[in-house]
Amino acid sequence: MIRKAELSDAVNIQKLVNHFANLDLMLPRSLNEIYENLRDFWVYVDNEEIRGCSALHIVGWDGLAEIKSLVVAENFQGKGIGKDLVLRCVDEAKSFGIDKIFVLTYRPDYFKNIGFGEIDKDKLPRKIWTECCNCPKFPGCLETALVKAL
Ligand SMILES: CC(C)(COP(=O)(O)OP(=O)(O)OC[C@H]1O[C@@H](n2cnc3c(N)ncnc32)[C@H](O)[C@@H]1OP(=O)(O)O)[C@@H](O)C(=O)NCCC(=O)NCCS
Repeated sequence: MIRKAELSDAVNIQKLVNHFANLDLMLPRSLNEIYENLRDFWVYVDNEEIRGCSALHIVGWDGLAEIKSLVVAENFQGKGIGKDLVLRCVDEAKSFGIDKIFVLTYRPDYFKNIGFGEIDKDKLPRKIWTECCNCPKFPGCLETALVKAL
């Protein structure tokens, strides 16, 4: 079942995201960051355990939003859950009147497969660079930027 995150999910969201961050597949998230942005999150729940999540973060400028923290636990991968988590973000973005969603990822092929197209990172608004500047990987980051028009 996919549902919006609740306050009590924050710790388990962090565990799941930081598990993959430790494998260098994505950026780690602090608990504070997850609490502050909890309304962005969708979670996939199986047997009352959180096994996947995604987040839609509204940037605002140029009708833009970002998909962040997309993960599915290893034993649950390859069943379409990741795609469903992305689609929840897409539907939510449409309901907010968002024109375009972007993602910064080490898995560009995954997002291309579900309808995103690669763009030059420099084309994204300056606002997103604030977060990049605070990232431990800046400026040597190898993430690819992709967008999907809605
Ligand atoms: C990336 C991730 C979220 C995908 O979730 P998932 O539930 O396994 O993916 P899905 O089952 O929804 O796959 C959807 C489609 O993408 C395809 N796909 C899966 N991985 C892919 C890859 N690396 N490259 C290209 N296509 C891929 C699937 O075959 C499927 O295609 P189909 O719809 O034609 O059958 C998951 O593997 C994961 O959590 N990985 C570790 C963390 C990570 O890298 N997150 C992305 C950070 S932005």
